[in-house]
Amino acid sequence: MSEAILLVGGRGTRLRPLTLTTPKPLLPVAGVPVTVHQIERARDAGVTRVVLGTSYRAEVFAERLGDGRDLGVEIAYAVEDEPLGTGGAIRNAAELLTCAPGDPVMVLNGDVLSGVDYAALVEGHVSSGAALTLHLTRVADPTAYGLVPTDGDGRVLAFREKPQTPEEIVTDQINAGCYVFTRAVIGEIPAGRPVSVERETFPDLLARGRVVRGVVDDAYWLDLGTPWDFVRGSCDLVLGVAPWRGHEPADSLVQTGAQVDDAAVIGGGTTVGHDARILGDAVVEGSVLLDGCVVEAGARVMGSVIGAGARVRGGATVVDSVVGDGAVVEAGNELRHGARLWPGVVLPPTSVRFS
Ligand code: GDD
Ligand code: MG
Repeated sequence: MSEAILLVGGRGTRLRPLTLTTPKPLLPVAGVPVTVHQIERARDAGVTRVVLGTSYRAEVFAERLGDGRDLGVEIAYAVEDEPLGTGGAIRNAAELLTCAPGDPVMVLNGDVLSGVDYAALVEGHVSSGAALTLHLTRVADPTAYGLVPTDGDGRVLAFREKPQTPEEIVTDQINAGCYVFTRAVIGEIPAGRPVSVERETFPDLLARGRVVRGVVDDAYWLDLGTPWDFVRGSCDLVLGVAPWRGHEPADSLVQTGAQVDDAAVIGGGTTVGHDARILGDAVVEGSVLLDGCVVEAGARVMGSVIGAGARVRGGATVVDSVVGDGAVVEAGNELRHGARLWPGVVLPPTSVRFS
């Protein structure tokens, strides 16, 4: 195995305001872009060349990842002028593959943390002679994903993307966003127009009687599509719940240049970004503090993301919320229950008490 396609062109709307400034795949999860976590795992499984399928803010990927040398792989960039959807993106990226038509190509959604054994998935694909192999995982609530029922032999029976009615929920197995295509099969996806691999390509392969396999496992798996999952994934990596080779599990991860005062209490897998500061007796639990933000003495932050350069003043509380880059939460405010403060917004001081 040697080549993979990484899909990184989505707009990440559910992660706004974080994705207003940084594309979702480059948001730091435990201080490292999720794309980098994925490339490192793919490299460890034998991938030597990665084609990034980019669309939204394509240029920042090349600025951040370069030619891949630092990561020990070769990176090529396929750019879509207009977003081509997941299938169109795979088709477009395949133009830059160098492997033979019969070779396996791994394709990864760019926003997933997973412990699946990539190499075993590819081996199984090759030995089965399938057109397509999908990694499947089980989730409690599959409604936000693509449902993929299989028979006793692991043959895929149907695809139901984002089911709308209870009758459509026929399984708890979902598409985990990791595929192995035989390269020639990618060539069957129409070129030059938007295509959804989940709604068009996969059902079409089934309709044409091609062998599509689903491999279910219990490995760690998380789609980082929402701020809460993004925070969860970051903390899981730091705590050692999610796989991260070479990382020693810890209560928190403090990046270079950051300051955490002695009286401060931090834990729950919190990452403190470069040059961020946690002052005095501030309490930060299970959160992601991006570079250069400040949590002042007397502030409390839990289960939240504090954007780059943002400030949480003493006497403010932020729980399960997102503070955008450069925003300021002045004293007395409480952000809770999924509140999202847009970049640069200043929440003025308040003396109103919340119960
Ligand atoms: N290049 C490119 N162009 N990439 C795209 C485009 C596009 O037009 N649209 C989406 N992507 C990328 C996103 O950046 C992401 O990495 C991946 O394709 C999947 O898009 P999401 O927007 O994250 O989809 P989802 O999470 O709602 O659903 C998908 O993933 C689930 C698992 O996480 C589907 O594949 C579901 O079936 C699946 O269960
Ligand atoms: Mg997703």
